[in-house]
Amino acid sequence: MANRVPVIAGNWKMNTDVESGLKLASDILRLTNDVSGVEKIVCPPFISITRIAEELSGSSIQVGAQNVSSSANGALTGEISATMLQGQVSHVIVGHSERRAQNNETSEQISLKAIAVAEARMTPILCTGEDLAIRQAGKASSFVSEQLEANLAGFTEWDSLIVAYEPVWAIGTGEAATSDQAQEMTAVCREVIRKLAPHAADSIRVLYGGSVNSGNVGELLSQPDIDGALVGGASLKADEFSKLIVAASSG
Ligand code: PGA
Repeated sequence: MANRVPVIAGNWKMNTDVESGLKLASDILRLTNDVSGVEKIVCPPFISITRIAEELSGSSIQVGAQNVSSSANGALTGEISATMLQGQVSHVIVGHSERRAQNNETSEQISLKAIAVAEARMTPILCTGEDLAIRQAGKASSFVSEQLEANLAGFTEWDSLIVAYEPVWAIGTGEAATSDQAQEMTAVCREVIRKLAPHAADSIRVLYGGSVNSGNVGELLSQPDIDGALVGGASLKADEFSKLIVAASSG
């Protein structure tokens, strides 16, 4: 993990209503507010962001969004812009594989989103990862390399970027990548950054995501290029998510 401060980010996806989200946030706060040496982020649904940001204000837990529009404003029914999120959240997940697959997000849109987030002085958590067919064809490294490079086209705010390697086949399946696989691919991500912005390659945090839990987090975080985790299912249980935070803090 070199000298980089680890990050544990929870992606709640389309789970929790306002009340249960507030309860989850306050439970995580109670269990982890004093844990240091790790950046903690929760990404609730949009509808809960304002209330949860108030609840966590002044605490050691930051709030992120799960998506953002690539446009600044206008006739875009149902969309939320980066400037609307300013002051509410510190991070925004961009390019999650569920949005690429279900919402047909293109690399061009994703790169515009990452730029919009950084220009609004928030940190994009840019996701990349191959599906099972690509892995079985032996093309995981070249695919992720090309995808990440395309998604970073035009990006310049290198002080404000987190990358998350999330193999599609490991998300929500209970079958995480092995620590060797995750190390190999997070290193591929870091090489892409090194090519685009050599000065930033050793400081940008590269996370692993996909079925991370308290049983596998230690092994994953012990790898030199894995700087934390983007967590779905296990982020919905305060006890389990807190264990990940504690593991990262001592790791
Ligand atoms: P998971 O989701 O932890 O439930 O596999 C990870 C993610 O989608 O970021």
